[in-house]
Amino acid sequence: MPIAILSSMDQEIRAVERQILDPIPHEIRGQRFVAGTLCDIAVVTAISGYGKTGAAATAGAALAAFDIDAVVFGGVAGGIDPDVRIGDVVVADRLIHHDYDASPLFDRYVVPSLGVAEIPADPELTVFLEEAAREYASAAVASTSTPPRVHVGLLASGDRFISSETDATSLRQSLPEVLAVEMEGAAVAQVCAERRVPFAVFRSISDRADHHADIDFTAYVETVAAPLTAAVITRFLGRLN
Ligand code: ADE
Repeated sequence: MPIAILSSMDQEIRAVERQILDPIPHEIRGQRFVAGTLCDIAVVTAISGYGKTGAAATAGAALAAFDIDAVVFGGVAGGIDPDVRIGDVVVADRLIHHDYDASPLFDRYVVPSLGVAEIPADPELTVFLEEAAREYASAAVASTSTPPRVHVGLLASGDRFISSETDATSLRQSLPEVLAVEMEGAAVAQVCAERRVPFAVFRSISDRADHHADIDFTAYVETVAAPLTAAVITRFLGRLN
């Protein structure tokens, strides 16, 4: 059964797809998927676009159309914890919608269908992703004076690109354990958890979610993000055999 590999941006998915053996494109209700084999593992790739709606729809469509064994989401995020620097990798052991609030019906952040605010990622897949990221980071030591560090912890998602010190500080104050912020992971986590499909999410840090975030994000996506995502994904798949 295939592993679904999802990302919000086409640069990252194309970098993964370039390595797929015998790729077969599928077009299902306007959503493009590519099925094939990577590192001897059956995979299906898709681009979610930015934000939680596209991420949930893409994960749901992949699960409905293919016999998916597990879902992995990779991409970039803004660093929120003071220790999480541009270029570092964050592997989510759990994810939260930082903009979800059904209070007073439910506690703030709690997803009613799951009864929790923090959605746990699959522990085994998360360890494989962490190992893959550490292996990538060790290989990068030779080529850079600031090799990426790997962090494992809470990832926050919301339908907003955080690009001000005020918003980053407010997120830090509301959810002090958050390592990084992005716009898709918790939506994929929710869909997978509701359907009992194992999933894992990793992000490399493109910016610090501050007033410089848009400039840092664009430069990072153009240079680092796609090869890093593809390298971590292939190292991850190599561990599944
Ligand atoms: N993805 C990458 N950087 C981000 C940021 N600053 N806010 C939300 N999503 C992001």
